[in-house]
Amino acid sequence: MYLGLDFGTSSVKAILIDEEQRIISSASEAFEVYRPHPSWAEQDPEDWWAGCAKALDRIADEAPKAMADVRAIGLSGQMHGATLLGKDDRPLRPCILWNDTRSVAQSLQLEEGQPKFLTAGGNRVMPGFTAPKLQWVREHEPQIFQQTAKVLLPKDYIRLCLTGGHASDMSDSAGTLWMDVAARDWCDDLLAATGLSRDHMPTLVEGTHGTGTVRPSLCQRWGWTTAPIVAGGGGDNAAAACGIGAVRPGSAFVSLGTSGVIFATTDAFRPNVESAVHAFCHAVPDTWHQMGVILSAADSLNWVSRLFGEKPADLVTAIGTVSGPSPVKFLPYLGGERTPHNDAEIRGNFSNLSHATQRGDLVQSVLEGVCLGLKDCVEALEQAGTRIDRLLAVGGGARSRTWLQILASVLNVPVDLPAEGDFGASLGAARLAQASVRGYDPDIFSVPPLADTISPTPEQVSAYEDAYGSWKRLYPALKQV
Ligand code: XUL
Repeated sequence: MYLGLDFGTSSVKAILIDEEQRIISSASEAFEVYRPHPSWAEQDPEDWWAGCAKALDRIADEAPKAMADVRAIGLSGQMHGATLLGKDDRPLRPCILWNDTRSVAQSLQLEEGQPKFLTAGGNRVMPGFTAPKLQWVREHEPQIFQQTAKVLLPKDYIRLCLTGGHASDMSDSAGTLWMDVAARDWCDDLLAATGLSRDHMPTLVEGTHGTGTVRPSLCQRWGWTTAPIVAGGGGDNAAAACGIGAVRPGSAFVSLGTSGVIFATTDAFRPNVESAVHAFCHAVPDTWHQMGVILSAADSLNWVSRLFGEKPADLVTAIGTVSGPSPVKFLPYLGGERTPHNDAEIRGNFSNLSHATQRGDLVQSVLEGVCLGLKDCVEALEQAGTRIDRLLAVGGGARSRTWLQILASVLNVPVDLPAEGDFGASLGAARLAQASVRGYDPDIFSVPPLADTISPTPEQVSAYEDAYGSWKRLYPALKQV
């Protein structure tokens, strides 16, 4: 038996799988995101651990015999979060999350001051990444910076709680911007640019390797007579790739989570900083990946659902069948945008409102705006030499057929839907756990059974192509005002 734990932005999902990768039990616990200032997004690391412990208690109650047989645990989680720990391994402040954009000035300063961020780091310095967050703390909270003994990513804080050790995997660590991504190692010059050294970093391992075993007191709590191994795991997107079998170069998927991601596996480190493509290590050995990332995907739908006081799924059901683009256009830049604009200060926009505009037009335009943003990402990846012929869909938004139908037509590619749609990253984490016991074998990371394939609707493809042409002109116009 293997456990996969995925620490998303809104919840932790825990799954228990057997040797044949059948899901035996699962549990989820929700978290709060705190926004004490505009553009800030923070979480309390203790909330992750409390949620994790509750989810594992629930699995132990539901499937005690299977839980007792757990051999390894895989970790996955929201990337880039800066969890600052003192010498006693306790958090010094709330974690600064991936969608926190307070460090715009520090990002510019680092990018201009150290050219290696673009070469060895392979990415634009964006406020979402970890390095500029530390530079912000260094400038604005110098006492906390001085007390910082270790900087951990969210899932690696949970590893510390489970094993007592400091370790991380390559895929998540590449998103700190402190790595030489091609060499799969920390880069001393990039660390020095933010006043840090290797001593502040966890040990790096491949996602398929073990990083220690669970502490005795926790083994007692969850009924383990042999302490399970905790595998390296992966950042949530690389782990989702492991869950849906995208570990071979050329494979790709789309994630409609809080953020929206187009992910493509590559055989080598292939950066393209001009169009703000993310180029990171994969969670499996000798493999890398590219991503186009939009910051507010399901988050845009959640925002509009809060405004209307209705559940996202009910809002989408109410719009019925979509026959073509909404007259209203929506730019999903609620918290700025990464690919292709790298613009943390731009904000969202509705345009072409009229007396005839209905609530359904607004909701449809939100779904479409997210898909058009993902089309921007596909174009950015194409400029980086990657061709996307079909995509597998994961994340909470992938539960909506209406949304996936729009996406297939906007991108003009078939979209596959796995039978276990919501388990991408947690299943990937559990598979990485299995690999830590059995050794790395690409067959562990097979493509799961598909529930369906959603094909582009021919009549809608050209209508959305036109809609994309005018939608694309909105960003430069909005930027001017
Ligand atoms: C990727 C990114 C997000 C987070 C949250 O670069 O910032 O996808 O990992 O899920």
